Parts: sequence; C-alpha cells; structure tokens
Amino acid sequence: MTHYFKKGAFVVLLAGFCWLSQAFETQGTIAPYAAEMLLPKLSAYAIFKGPPGELVPAADFRLYELSAQLFSDYALKQRLIRLPKDSVLLSTDDGLPHFPEGTMLVKTFYYTNPEVGERNQVVETRLLVLSQGKWIAGTYLWNVGQTDADLVQSARNVAVRFRNENGAVETLAYHLPGPKECVTCHGFKSEIQPIGPELRNLNSVVVRNGKSVNQLAYFQQTGVLQMRSGAKTGELANYNPEIALEKRARAYLSINCAHCHRTAGAAARTNLLLHAIIPFNETGISEKKARILRKMEQGKMPKLGTTVVHDTGVALIRAYLQTLD
Ligand code: HEC
Ligand code: HEC
Repeated sequence: MTHYFKKGAFVVLLAGFCWLSQAFETQGTIAPYAAEMLLPKLSAYAIFKGPPGELVPAADFRLYELSAQLFSDYALKQRLIRLPKDSVLLSTDDGLPHFPEGTMLVKTFYYTNPEVGERNQVVETRLLVLSQGKWIAGTYLWNVGQTDADLVQSARNVAVRFRNENGAVETLAYHLPGPKECVTCHGFKSEIQPIGPELRNLNSVVVRNGKSVNQLAYFQQTGVLQMRSGAKTGELANYNPEIALEKRARAYLSINCAHCHRTAGAAARTNLLLHAIIPFNETGISEKKARILRKMEQGKMPKLGTTVVHDTGVALIRAYLQTLD
C-alpha cells in the first residue's frame, strides 16, 4: 500500500502557523502553553503502575473510550481521566461535562512494532490539567527504554514502525506537536478546551470487568459522572459499517475537523462548520463538497496532526459526498 505523503508538510505547517497567528485574534489571545507549570518527568504523575511502557493505569486513572476518534497517522491511543478525590463530572446535556478543578486528561500515543513481537513503542503522552480554572497543556516524549517520558518544549519527529490497516509494515516520521499546535486545535473562545469527552461521544457500549456496559451508565454507577435527571444524551456514531453512511461521515468530520472548523476555531472564517451537531444546511458541506474531497485526497486537510493521508477516512467521506450529488 502506498500513501500520498503530504508534500512539503513542514513548509505548509510553518506557513500555517504564521498565517494562523496573524489572522485569528481568537487564537492569539491564548497563552500558548503553560508547560512551565507541568512537572518535567511524566513519572511524577504516577499515571501507570508496573512497567510504564505496558500502560496499565494506576487505580485513580480511569479509562474512557470515544466512539468517533481522531486519526493520527495510525497511532494507537489510550485515554484516561483522573478526577480529584470526592469530585465528579457534572452534566446537563450531551456536550462536554463540567470538569472539577484538578481534573487530568491523559492521552498516550503508541504503536505496536511487528518486528519486536508487537511490543509497544510508546511515543508521547499528552496532558490537559485543569488548574485555577484554566487548562494547562503539555506533551511528554517517551525514552527509548520506555521507563519514563520528558516534557517537551518544541515540536519534533520520531521514527516509528507499525503494521498499517492493510497488514503491511510501514515506517513514518511521527510528529510530536509543539505548543502552538496544541492551541490551534484546542483553542476555543480564548481558552484551551478538551475536545473528545463530549458525552455524546462517550455514549457507547464498552467492556468493563468482562461485561458489556453503556459507558455513561458505568461512569454514573462508579461515581465519575453525575447527570441532571432527564438530561438528553445523543450519541456520536462510530465507524462501524453497519451504521448509516451519513452518521459515520458526519462523526468522522466532527472529530477530525470540527476542532478547527467551528465558530471561534482556527478555521472559523471558512464558514465550513463541521461539528456533527450543526444542522446540515448550516455546515457548508454541500457547497464545498468538491473542495473537501480534494483537500483530503491531497493531504492538505486536516491541516495539522497527520503526515499521511488516511485512506479509509477519505473513502468514507468520498462515499458520503457522492450521496449529496
Ligand atoms: C490536530 C489537532 C490537534 C492537535 C495539534 C492537538 N490535539 Fe489534542 N486532541 C485533538 C482531538 C481531535 C482530540 C479528541 C479526539 C481523540 O482523542 O481522538 C484530542 C484529545 C486530546 C486529549 C484528551 C482529552 C481531549 O481533549 O479529548 C489531550 C490530553 C490532548 N488532546 C492534549 C493535547 C496536547 C497537550 C497537545 C499539544 C502538545 C495537543 N493535544 C495537540 C486534536 C489535537
Ligand atoms: C488544525 C486546524 C484544521 C483542521 C484540523 C482542519 N482544517 Fe480545514 N482549514 C483550516 C484552515 C485554517 C483553513 C483556511 C486556510 C486554508 O485553506 O488552509 C481550512 C480550509 C479548509 C477548506 C477550504 C475551505 C474554503 O472555503 O475554501 C476545506 C474544504 C477544509 N478546510 C476541509 C477540512 C476537512 C474536511 C478537515 C478534516 C478532515 C479539515 N479541514 C481539518 C484548518 C483546519
């Protein structure tokens, strides 16, 4: 299988930063990174127990799973949340819940290398920590021995080997984002915000203690989440082919594009609003369908976060856009 590597990705990225920082006041007001408030070594947070590279979460870090996930160059991801003692997530609808002060969101990116018995190659762990009402963002680069990770101050690339979705072994230069990149995707209304844990994207069946359970119900039972009674909870589709094409495609565009393509996001000015809750007629998808497909095929969109074209993602969006003809 051959990928269309994004030509001149770095030039595009650099140009993108300059352009973004000049063009968008909404992004410019956010302090880029408060990494100086994060500890230099990931181990200080005691996120994992046992050998860190095995990614077994410590007791106070809970696993959560998203139905629709962001594609990041085939990296596998583990997502964890830790709430301060005796506090809960509060929710009145199916968007992001209210997070208590001190909440920590942890996202670890890894590959399994087929040449060394599918052993994990953990690359980075990203943190969002809610401190004095503001989210602090930072990422940690894992060492070769997989014993710990160091806080990084600037973007860099790491060579990874893995088996792609067609079973072939592939190498790529995995891109660890720098501080400005966090803000481009997580910046919203002059604040850094989490993106994934909207309740509609957690409203799915997961396996816990060997049993299939609804994740929101499980979080309520285990004291993680409190919902207003009668609160409406929709669900974001996953990419299971049994689900209606339109739902899958809207979910894909939502989690891969809407962090920029939303009001007050980095691409607000395009008027292409790709969050799944936006009524179709207000999204601009119909008007811009040719451009959407071309930019995805050429690897120009998503603008950040990937270095290769996501073939199955493009195929999904192509099939969906054809239904709009
Ligand atoms: C290309 C856009 C993009 C960039 C750049 C980016 N993120 Fe994210 N991030 C996302 C999206 C989308 C999600 C949710 C979807 C998912 O997890 O699959 C997410 C999820 C997360 C999460 C889990 C909680 C949440 O918000 O869902 C953390 C923690 C996180 N990012 C931290 C960071 C940090 C720190 C940086 C910079 C070093 C960063 N991210 C850069 C798009 C991005
Ligand atoms: C990291 C932020 C970011 C992400 C993620 C992102 N975009 Fe964009 N997008 C932009 C910006 C900024 C522009 C305007 C400047 C440009 O064209 O580069 C844009 C422009 C576009 C345009 C051109 C719009 C027009 O009116 O000409 C299309 C189409 C588009 N994006 C589609 C997508 C799709 C589809 C995705 C997800 C697969 C996506 N974008 C993800 C930032 C982003």
